[in-house]
Amino acid sequence: LVTGGAGFVGSHLVDALVARGDRVRILDNLDPQVHGPERRGPSWLSGDAELVVGDVRDRDVWDRVLKGVDTVYHLAAAVGVGQSMYQIADYTATNTLGTAYLLQTLVDREMELKRLVVASSMSIYGEGRYVREDGGEPSATRRSADRLKAHDWEMRDPDGAPLRPVPTDEDKPLDPTSIYALTKADQEKMVLQIGEAYGIPSVALRFFNIYGPRQSLSNPYTGVAAIFSSRLLNGESALIFEDGEQKRDFVSVYDIVRALLLAGEEPGAVGQALNVGSGSPVTVTEVASTLARVLGVDVAPQVTGRYRVGDIRNCFADISRARDAMGYEPQVTFEEGMRDLVAWLQEQDKPEDGAERHAAELAARGLTL
Ligand code: UD1
Repeated sequence: LVTGGAGFVGSHLVDALVARGDRVRILDNLDPQVHGPERRGPSWLSGDAELVVGDVRDRDVWDRVLKGVDTVYHLAAAVGVGQSMYQIADYTATNTLGTAYLLQTLVDREMELKRLVVASSMSIYGEGRYVREDGGEPSATRRSADRLKAHDWEMRDPDGAPLRPVPTDEDKPLDPTSIYALTKADQEKMVLQIGEAYGIPSVALRFFNIYGPRQSLSNPYTGVAAIFSSRLLNGESALIFEDGEQKRDFVSVYDIVRALLLAGEEPGAVGQALNVGSGSPVTVTEVASTLARVLGVDVAPQVTGRYRVGDIRNCFADISRARDAMGYEPQVTFEEGMRDLVAWLQEQDKPEDGAERHAAELAARGLTL
């Protein structure tokens, strides 16, 4: 069973499972925000998988979809960080309560799964890991509104000492700064706790910034690589927030699928929450320049100096635990991955510009810039 199997990550996973000969069932509600008002499945939905259109918030649907299943990849979720700050009940119901219904059904039916894998997120860390140059333990966890207003973008300790970002490992204390992040932390903990208590071999994967073909373009809550490439294709500049030097870990959806398959099989992964990224930091400016190069366009990015409330400055993955536990090794370089994203984008119809709507929603609620 792949929940969210019609979505960006889920549909690639379904393809990989079908290709290796598994029988696959999909549970997906074909959310109009992702799939359009007619809620038609995407053209790339696998014809070799069984599709059940249903909602994770419907307790009864779980009985039906879990019948005969030995492995569950729970990827269905509401995924907009900004949107979660005004659709609080919806996000909590879909992500937290939906996972509770899955676990309740497994326990009530005394189901013996071979594996349960849940999608978690780097967002649960808040800021990534930092060190002080003097070797001390940093105490700051966020940037103050005053410093941001003064365009002082870097993380600093309260005494003003600059902090240097280093790869974030799984022991970094969690600091979820949105309802979305809170629900991801919930999902991960619920699955690992119930898994341990009932002997259901369970794994949580903390995905970093995923990009690639089939990434939703109409969903306004999509990531920066999709936003920048759509703009560049329309002859518009990439709009860079802050100064562009903020770092993230961009990981190709194909490496994410590799990690999901390993998490579904490898004994060493059981009981763990593992980072899945590329392991290499990339700045937002580098995203814009790589995309412009790959597209062969000469549109300079605009560094706006504006910022998004709640944005973190840096977070990139230390992937050594996933490497040790399940042999995860990312294979797609950033440049190759961006080429792949762009090649796919060029074949798509121009989407409605959801980003404008998103910005308006957030602004109306005092949640932006
Ligand atoms: C957030 C979530 C992550 C989620 C992802 C995609 C956190 C910490 N992480 O990541 O879980 O998977 O959204 O929904 O909340 N930027 C620009 N110009 C733009 C858009 C973005 O400069 O037009 C910058 C942002 O300010 C940020 C960086 O690009 O510094 C990355 O933004 P984004 O792709 O939205 O992802 P995150 O905020 O890292």
